[in-house]
Amino acid sequence: MTNSPPLPDSTAPSAASPASRNPERRREPLEGYADHADAVRLHASLIDDDPAAMFQEMRRKHGPLVPILLDDMPAWFVIGYRELHHVTSQPQLFGRDPRRWNMRDHLPPDWPSLPYVTWQPSVMYSEGVEHQRRSGAISDALDTVDRTELTLICEQVADLAIDEFSGDGQTDLISQYAYRIPAQVVTRLFGLSETDLPHLVKDVNHVLGGSEEAASALPRVLGRMGRLITDKRARPGHDITSHLLAHAARLTDEEIVQDLIVLMIASHDSSANWIGNTLRLMLVDDHFSMNLQGGRSSVGEALNEVLWKDPPSPNLPSRWAVQDCELAGRRIRRGDLLVLGVAAANADPQVQPAAHAGSGANRAHMSFSHGEYGCPFPAPELGEIIAKTAVEVLLDRLPDVYLTVKPDALRWRPSLWVRSLEALPVRFSPTVPVGQSPSNTWGAPR
Ligand code: HEM
Repeated sequence: MTNSPPLPDSTAPSAASPASRNPERRREPLEGYADHADAVRLHASLIDDDPAAMFQEMRRKHGPLVPILLDDMPAWFVIGYRELHHVTSQPQLFGRDPRRWNMRDHLPPDWPSLPYVTWQPSVMYSEGVEHQRRSGAISDALDTVDRTELTLICEQVADLAIDEFSGDGQTDLISQYAYRIPAQVVTRLFGLSETDLPHLVKDVNHVLGGSEEAASALPRVLGRMGRLITDKRARPGHDITSHLLAHAARLTDEEIVQDLIVLMIASHDSSANWIGNTLRLMLVDDHFSMNLQGGRSSVGEALNEVLWKDPPSPNLPSRWAVQDCELAGRRIRRGDLLVLGVAAANADPQVQPAAHAGSGANRAHMSFSHGEYGCPFPAPELGEIIAKTAVEVLLDRLPDVYLTVKPDALRWRPSLWVRSLEALPVRFSPTVPVGQSPSNTWGAPR
């Protein structure tokens, strides 16, 4: 545990921020934001190993709704559990379309979180009846996924990933395992051919990672999705794409392409980090045991504890006030951005006693968000199948995994929006890849 970090001073210029290079730009957006005189400066480097201590200090000083400068842009940080529940339960008051933001004209082109608040014609940024139409079709299509078949696909994908390093006796469980699984699994559910899958997953990783190749990868992803839709229109199958095409919502091809990409993006990072953060917990916490005997029985508990303490999406810059209103005694203006403090709400002392009482079974955390724009039914259940299977297959295949560094040497990526380890280096007794073992055929039930 580190000591409570001091809250940053809103008047102190931050060397890296765009506004500190151009003070005029910073003064302008703050006009009319009286509550922001003592705002907390929020930026990625503030999120350290002990965000709970930071939230506690914010709560002490500001209460459940914190005026923040998000890389110099005024916004509100919702850190109270009740307040977060209220905001996510009122879609008519707190919308999801970033074009509502009253600060849009002040955003510098190099603003760090720009991609998160840039509108796209997908379900993710739609509202009202339009959102219900698209989100309903997604839920119906996801609900056709056979849970047993999903588990089998996860086992196959996880086995293949482990085959790549099982003979080496060491690996990084983040890059070589956790990040290799969800996109591979979800794109298989789309009905893509086996030959298309590796290229698509590679391109999606470029797009998500924001690498130099992202610009050329995106048109390839769109092209492949477009071809998938043409194929499935001609030859429907039992897959998500065919179900979306046949849905009574009568989605256009463009809408389906956009929403398949949302499905990939929404499932990939969050499920990968759920796997990675659970493996970390099981490796560092004596309460859990990273071996076949003890581990299997505690996987569910570890997965749930991670959702309370290290949720994959700890903060979401994803609600804008539809009209002037009041929240936690503060005046919110039409178009203000509210950052949903999921991790902070989970750590709210008002709900912590309940969380402690049964963190193994208590699922009242906010890590899937909540309400109309939260992670849609049955995605949390499918995400859990993916994450649970990935952890269990690893325990089955490598029953003696140990960290190669001290737990406090593990580093979190400096990000406000994802809770993700840089790496999880481990060693284990080398084993024979499943593919080379005569007793195990690829895809056979375990
Ligand atoms: C198979 C796995 C998953 C799928 C298919 C999936 C799908 C989706 C979709 C389609 C959305 C957009 C919802 C909308 O705009 O109406 C979404 C949002 C979201 N998902 Fe998931 N998801 C998956 C796994 C996860 C996991 C593992 C987590 C975290 C533990 C998660 C947390 C979230 C959150 C926090 C949002 C944003 C909600 C908001 O802004 O309020 N998802 N997900």
